[in-house]
Amino acid sequence: MRRNRRAEWVRRLTSESSLSTDDLIWPMFVQEGYSERTGIPSMPGVERLSIDLAVEAVGQAKALGIPAVAVFPVTPPELKTADGKEATNSDNLVCRTVLAIKKQHDDIGVICDVALDPYTTHGQDGIVRDGQIINDETVEVLCQQAFVQARAGCDVVAPSDMMDGRVGAIRKALDAEGLQDVSLLAYSAKYASAFYGPFRDAVGSAQNLGTADKRTYQMDPANTDEALREVGLDIAEGADMVMVKPGMPYLDVIRRVKETFGVPTFAYQVSGEYAMLRGAADRGWLDWDKAIHESMISFKRAGADGVLTYGALEIAKLLRA
Ligand code: PBG
Repeated sequence: MRRNRRAEWVRRLTSESSLSTDDLIWPMFVQEGYSERTGIPSMPGVERLSIDLAVEAVGQAKALGIPAVAVFPVTPPELKTADGKEATNSDNLVCRTVLAIKKQHDDIGVICDVALDPYTTHGQDGIVRDGQIINDETVEVLCQQAFVQARAGCDVVAPSDMMDGRVGAIRKALDAEGLQDVSLLAYSAKYASAFYGPFRDAVGSAQNLGTADKRTYQMDPANTDEALREVGLDIAEGADMVMVKPGMPYLDVIRRVKETFGVPTFAYQVSGEYAMLRGAADRGWLDWDKAIHESMISFKRAGADGVLTYGALEIAKLLRA
């Protein structure tokens, strides 16, 4: 076995998986203000950017060859309500960001998250009544949210809310408005995970959610057959691409989804995964460049077509070097 490992050239020749910048999607956080950036303590190296700086950063991503970015808004607390109606405001932070990015860089893909949690006072992804997340009413609001994002010019809407039937409803709503070219990336197998903590700090929904959880709509980490049912439904409802989230703890799910359906399948290396790698690297316990690269290769090996990662810019630079 070692003959094929004895030199760099033969290792390259026999390598089964490869990583390129074409595989990267960069999730970024936007905030109000001008020329403002705010660090996120639980995600060292990641910053929330005001729109003007976000547009600049997207220019960097584009220059590095990254095909797409995913935009997440930090909603000012005074705009949060129980029904999260700021999500459907066509002049909200995320819509203004998309417009500004597209004006400057119309040739990079822009993905918008569809879910109410950045906008609700309780931090849940849907409308709450008597302690329950109300499915169908939430789906109606999500359709309006997807509509304002699509009209602002985003290329992909990505429902991350895990309500039943939302992919089909959003597809129908967009088509009815002549927005049939806007793609749907479904967070199909999204688990109720402890690894989203730093993201909730970043968008400021952590205090809103408090000690509550999302286990009545996000998946049980113990399940994989159920993930296949979720993906199957989303494809039948019109998803163009599907996602498994989180990433590294769920590589088996990526493999099963890709083998079963053969559709474009993405992994989300979530905030907690980023924080673990970065935290260890910052203490000198891991080599950042090697560890982040290995994590990416593991997604490719599992069958992912691409990865959402907060390290996208750094990885793209590594791949260039
Ligand atoms: C919103 C959403 C979440 C993430 C992406 N979209 C958080 C959640 O569901 O609580 C998590 C991303 C990350 O942790 O990096 N529904």
